[in-house]
Amino acid sequence: MEDIIQIKELSFKKLLSKELIKKRVKELAKRIDKDYCGKNPILLLTLKGAIIFAADLMREMKIPTQIETIIAKSYGMNLSSEGKVEVIENPINLNDKDIIIIEDIVDTGYTMQSLIKRLESFNPSSIEICTLLFKPKNIVVPLQIKYIGFEIEPLFVVGYGLDYAEEGRNLREIYIKVD
Ligand code: IMP
Repeated sequence: MEDIIQIKELSFKKLLSKELIKKRVKELAKRIDKDYCGKNPILLLTLKGAIIFAADLMREMKIPTQIETIIAKSYGMNLSSEGKVEVIENPINLNDKDIIIIEDIVDTGYTMQSLIKRLESFNPSSIEICTLLFKPKNIVVPLQIKYIGFEIEPLFVVGYGLDYAEEGRNLREIYIKVD
């Protein structure tokens, strides 16, 4: 795969190789296995961006897990967060459960903040966040993120599940926008 790609009007350069992503996903799975040993956490996958990350992560995990999905929409077709988040949950019983939210990227934190607020109303036993990517320079709301794959610069990224206007999710590597 070439190092510079074009999606619609934007150019992106390779940021994280598939080998690096694989290695980090394994490390995260190992930590989660250790932290949740003897428990049966629910991996709550945020659609659609975390699909590929969650699929790889759960296959690296050894402890029993249940996977559920939730839709948390914030961006629409734009490149920046608007602070408006729509959460659509499946009818799942989260009462007394250990939840690990599997997210593709935390940017401003609005999405996670809204989602956690919503999930708390179901009285789970615990809620933690596992995000593949984190843009620390963009965070606006205070958030405790237990598992972070990579901290990255505050630029738009695509690939490995992340999209630009619904394109680029199937790229095996992660690409960052260039001017
Ligand atoms: P936040 O609410 O600002 O933290 O944004 C989180 C959501 O915005 C993620 O779940 C993504 O769907 C989307 N997002 C944030 N940054 C990017 C990016 O660089 N590429 C693709 N989607 C992004």
